[in-house]
Amino acid sequence: MDALEAIFTRRSIRKFQRKAVPDEMVRTMLAAAMSAPTADNAQPWQFIVITDRRRLEAIPTIHAYARMAADAALAIVVCGDRSLEIAPDYWLLDCSAAVQNVLLAAHALGLGAVWCGVYPGEDRIERFRQYLGLPGHVIPHSLIAIGHPAEQPGPVDRYREDRVHRERWRGMRVEG
Ligand SMILES: Cc1cc2nc3c(=O)[nH]c(=O)nc-3n(C[C@H](O)[C@H](O)[C@H](O)COP(=O)(O)O)c2cc1C
Repeated sequence: MDALEAIFTRRSIRKFQRKAVPDEMVRTMLAAAMSAPTADNAQPWQFIVITDRRRLEAIPTIHAYARMAADAALAIVVCGDRSLEIAPDYWLLDCSAAVQNVLLAAHALGLGAVWCGVYPGEDRIERFRQYLGLPGHVIPHSLIAIGHPAEQPGPVDRYREDRVHRERWRGMRVEG
């Protein structure tokens, strides 16, 4: 699968087969995450891989919209590490790029994945902090549930010409 095919056919997968994902694939997805661009090349992130079934089954109790994680082969929690940041607050953007790379890598490997946001919900962040034993400078950004897909949603075309502005904001006359 080439890059454009992966981008245009990726969908969120929330139903999984109960089948393990090989360690090599997990490593590939983590390497994809760490290949994302970061401001000042700071790479201000940490990744927590959860494969223990009981730990996965506990996730819906701390994240109401991540119920699918209970049936996933694994979850990766992408965290920002503020002790590694160079440009303040860019960890948030850097981690988002890492999450998208994981989603695309999972899809290219024939797996399915869904991005479940953790940041900026304060209660949710605190629950993940407890669940993972995170130190204060590490902020849970997102949880990605991953596994062999048990559903195959088709690609959707979301291109909207009316969201595209050429040279300047369309319809506004700004002097100067
Ligand atoms: C920041 C962010 C947070 C999201 N949080 C959740 C979530 O908590 N639970 C969930 O099932 N999907 C979540 N999603 C997935 C979106 O619902 C999904 O990407 C969107 O509906 C478009 O569908 P697609 O991914 O199949 O293209 C999240 C996506 C993003 C980017």
